[in-house]
Formats: sequence, structure tokens, C-alpha cells
Amino acid sequence: MKLEEAKRTVQEAISTALTEIAPQVLTAQKVMNLLEVPKNDRMGDFAFPAFQLAKNLHQAPQQIAQQILDQLDQTAFAKVQVQGPYLNFFLHREEVAATTLAEVIAAGADFGSSAQGQQKQVVIDMSSPNIAKPMSMGHLRSTVIGNSIAKILTKLDYQPVKINHLGDWGTQFGKLMVAYKKWGSEEDVKRDPINSLQKYYVKFHQLDQEHPELDDEAREWFKKLENGDQEATYLWRWFRKESLKAFTKVYDQLGVTFDSFKGEAFYNDKMSEITDLLEEKGLLQTSKGAEIVDLGPDLPPALIKKSDGATLYITRDLAAALYRQRTYHFAKALYVVGSEQSVHFEQLKAVLQKMGYDWAQDIEHIRFGLITSGGKKLSTRAGRVILLEDVLHDSVQLAQAQIDAKNPTLPDKETVAHAVGVGAVIFHDLKNNRTDNFDFQLEEVVRFEGETGPYVQYTHARAQSVLRKAATQVQEQSTIITVGESDWNIVKQLANFPEVITQAGAQREPSVIAKYALRLAKSFNHYYAHSKILVADEQLDYRLNLLKATTIVLKEALNLLGVQAPDEM
Ligand code: ARG
Repeated sequence: MKLEEAKRTVQEAISTALTEIAPQVLTAQKVMNLLEVPKNDRMGDFAFPAFQLAKNLHQAPQQIAQQILDQLDQTAFAKVQVQGPYLNFFLHREEVAATTLAEVIAAGADFGSSAQGQQKQVVIDMSSPNIAKPMSMGHLRSTVIGNSIAKILTKLDYQPVKINHLGDWGTQFGKLMVAYKKWGSEEDVKRDPINSLQKYYVKFHQLDQEHPELDDEAREWFKKLENGDQEATYLWRWFRKESLKAFTKVYDQLGVTFDSFKGEAFYNDKMSEITDLLEEKGLLQTSKGAEIVDLGPDLPPALIKKSDGATLYITRDLAAALYRQRTYHFAKALYVVGSEQSVHFEQLKAVLQKMGYDWAQDIEHIRFGLITSGGKKLSTRAGRVILLEDVLHDSVQLAQAQIDAKNPTLPDKETVAHAVGVGAVIFHDLKNNRTDNFDFQLEEVVRFEGETGPYVQYTHARAQSVLRKAATQVQEQSTIITVGESDWNIVKQLANFPEVITQAGAQREPSVIAKYALRLAKSFNHYYAHSKILVADEQLDYRLNLLKATTIVLKEALNLLGVQAPDEM
């Protein structure tokens, strides 16, 4: 019997008993909703609180619980008892364990998949760093959160389309060109594109206060770029290409791929359609020379066109939304972007709604919290910068040192160190609710004990290693099972994995999976510490199946987060 079926059986037994005592007071669904999963195993696997009925029938809950028990058909359960105002149901553990383990092992990595998405396309706007600037920790968050959501949705049979909406257009390119022409060198850009370009840009800003003519020149260059001037276009393309190369290195390390790199510039020739449409629908207003869409008292107006005719971030996002709707006919469009852009996405949705597109309701801003350092916002100017590349590098380095110390003969040490070091960074980012802010501490990220990715990875590898040993040592075959407390705990969690994935998908919340993986790893380690696995008794097969199913689920949980699970470490 599976866990969901078991719950249904409990409900049916209660409902049948109730036809005797209190007919038509609680519907089947109501009984189902009232059923609880007790925190403490001694309270059974499901508990029915009698408070609601007690109120309806004007009797003490204890009494009601006892009356139900007296009427209850108990054959489907190992035990049913009244404890205070609760009726506690104990399942036949052996039966649930046998079906659950068989199901997990038969399904393998597919365990937990469902068909709910019906292949519908979900567009995920994620990562989206800005050209000629280093990828920030915020972009890292967007990248790993978006990537995990894509994996979770794939598991639920949706088709995600991962789009990197590169920040590759805007007046900053004029400044960059001026700076490059004045102080730049081709070799530097080739060798270290992001840092060089960043350096030029910073230098421009150091000087433009005292030399306002620099700004005029920058405007000039941006205009050239907009008009398709050859040199300007050449430079823009080159900066973009070199930046993208540097970003790709990070994506390769993280193991993240995209379906599209259509950035802001892609929409240049699609902007006039937007302004025309807004005009046609009578939504554009002129305010201080600029064109805006008024969004009522609750939102600031959307600034569509500046007085000099330049379009804005939101204009590009309007064009992008329309393009994506036409191209992918998305069921949902997710934007994985920091909470600080909430107003922007509310405006985007509101303008599209005003334009009469009912698919605007399928737009979701998947916001996430800020990463701070020492409680303060990260800032290049204030010197509070954390470079993603450094973090990844340090973490991999530490993983390498740990492996050298603990398992020096491990084959393919470097690959494993990479999986562990990078996994630590990703897991650290995903284990908290995405909307929480958190303070960045490198020591926290590269900590491998406690609630970390490497802890889950170690647990998985440890179970794998026992299974490897078993394959060479034991041949006993048997089917007898008696399920103890700590293994029962594991079985129930395994059975719950599909439900956990569904929940993570619905909430667009990878932390649901991360927390689950931590719980399962902890339960497994508890079991492992208190039992002898490789003893040739009649329970051996059961224990090995339990280990096998646990490795399958831990590995798949990590996979859904975008974290690898090495077999040995
Ligand atoms: N490039 C922007 C930034 O770094 C993020 C873009 C998010 N996506 C979007 N469609 N607006 O802030």
C-alpha cells in the first residue's frame, strides 16, 4: 500500500464509522483535510483530531474519538488507538515498506515524475547578467534558482525554455566605447574581458564629473550604435562576445545551459510595434516630454520613451513578453529576478493587462532575497564585492583538500572535488526560502558538515559504498521484513518524495527539495549509525533495498537542485 492510498483508507474507515455516530456532519473531503501526520511516531502515522466533531455534536473530543474507534473497521491497520482528543492510526509498516521500496527501485531516477505539466511550455527568464560587468551574486542566485525550477518543472512534465535576457543594450555602451577608445587595449580585453571593460567603465565615471564633454562623446557613440555605425557596431559585438565567453565559463562550472541568449538588444527592431500598439490603444500619455503609461494610484507610471526618444528597460521587457508569447505560446512566463525589481514586474504585468492581453496573468515574478555582506548591500564602489569566480574557486579548492586528507586514493579526485565544491555553493544558495535575504560568509559556503550540499553528497556516497561492498560479499536472499522506528522514518520520507516535488514546483521553491534532502540524509545517517547493514540474516535484502532506494532519491533530489552526486568521495 502506498502512503496516499493509506491516507485514503484511513479517511474511508473514519467516514464509514461516522455514518453510525454522526451521519452527514463531515464530508469525505473534510475528513481527508482534517487528517494529520503526527510529528511523533508514537502517535501513529496518521491522526484524526476530534475537535471539529466535538463542537458540532456538543460532546468531549475524547468521547467522540472513542465512539469512532468502537465503530471502526480496523482490519486495514496494524493498530488504532485513542490518545486524548486524537484517534491514531498505525499502518502495516511492512506492507508500505515493501511497495514503496519496490516502486522507487523500479522507477529509478524517474521516481517522483508526474504528468501534470502536459508538456506545456514555461518560459524562464533567468541569470540575465549585464555585458561588460562581472556577474554578481544576484545573477548567481537567479541562475541556480532558475535552473533548479526548470529541472523541477521538467520532472512534472512541463517544457521549460531557459532564456538569458542579457543586459546588452543601453547608454552605458556609449560610455564604454569612449573609455575603450581612450584608455583601452585590445590585448587586455582579450585576456581578461570583464575586468578590463569594468576598469574602463569605472575610469570613465571617475573622470566625467570634471569632464562633462566625456558624457557628450558617450551620447554621440551610443547614437552611432543605434544608427548602425560600423565601428560602434563592431565594438559592441566584440564586447558582447568577450563578455559572453567569460559568463559561459561560469555557466560551464555550474553546469547550467540556456535555450536562448536573446538579450535586450534583440528587441531593438521590435520596440516601435510596442509604442504603436500603446498609441493605438490610447494608453500613451506625454509627461514632461516623456511618454508614459499611467497605472493608477497604486503603481508609478511606466516610462516607455524618454524625451530624447530613447526606449527603456520596461519597453524592452514589453517587446520581449510579446515576442515570447508569440514564439512559445507559454503557459507561464517566470522571471527569476531579485525582489528589488518587484515594482518593475508589477508595472510590466499591468501594462500588458491594459493592452488587453489576458496571458499577462501568466506572468510571475519569481523574486529572491538580497545577498549582503556584513549586513550591508554589496557594492562595487564601497569595495564590498564578492566575485563568484573566487567563491567557486575557493570552494573547489577546499573540497580538494578534504578529499586529499580523507580519501587520497580516490580515482578521479579532481572531478569529485569539482562536484563537491560547486555543489556546496549551489546548495548553500538554494537551501533557504528564496525570498529570504542572507548574509554571505565564505566560511559558511565552504563548510561541509551540517546542513550543506556536501553532507547530502557524503550520505549518498556512503550508502553507495555499502551497496558496492554488498555486491561482492553477500548472496543471501529473503523477503521477511520487520520495520523498525528509524527505517520506517526513511520509508515514509521516500514515499513522500513525489508530493515534495509537486509542492516545490507549485511554489517555484527549490528550498523545499533542499530541506527534504537534508531531512532524508539525516534520517539515513541516524539509521546507519544504529544498525548493522551487511549481516547475512533474513532482513539483509530489505536493508539493501532500503539503501538502494535512498541513494536513488538522494541523487535525484540533488539533481533537481542542479547538484551532482558522485558515487564515491
Ligand atoms: N539585466 C538585469 C539586471 O541585471 C536583469 C534582467 C532580468 N530580466 C528581465 N526580463 N528584465 O538587473
